[in-house]
Amino acid sequence: MTLHPCLARLATAAVLTTAAACAGAQTTTPPAGRLLASNCFQCHGTNGKGPGFDTLAGKSATKLYGELIEFRNGQEGNGIMAKHALGYTDAQLRQLAQYLSTVR
Ligand code: HEC
Repeated sequence: MTLHPCLARLATAAVLTTAAACAGAQTTTPPAGRLLASNCFQCHGTNGKGPGFDTLAGKSATKLYGELIEFRNGQEGNGIMAKHALGYTDAQLRQLAQYLSTVR
């Protein structure tokens, strides 16, 4: 079956409009730190809201960053978090703390 030329043009227009809308959606950048933070959610609960170990969502960025630095420097804890925090740069810990502080 062949489409009437008008219908074919309409269908093409719909595809193009949809494609443009999808392309627009893809350019939305996720907040800094969100991808890094997805690493934390298995133990701290989805979006850091528990259940699991300490809740991280909505805590002050300064406090979270301070705790992460202490873990990384070996000043706090000697278990999972001390090891885990070793894997991040200062900038990444800041992004993590900043992002988690915004989660409600
Ligand atoms: C494998 C499990 C695991 C993962 C993954 C994990 N944590 Fe933890 N986290 C813990 C445990 C267990 C504690 C309790 C302290 C300890 O035993 O080291 C903790 C404690 C913390 C604390 C201290 C909270 C408080 O109120 O004292 C912070 C902050 C924290 N984690 C942040 C993070 C961040 C950010 C990530 C992701 C980059 C992360 N954690 C990933 C297990 C985990």
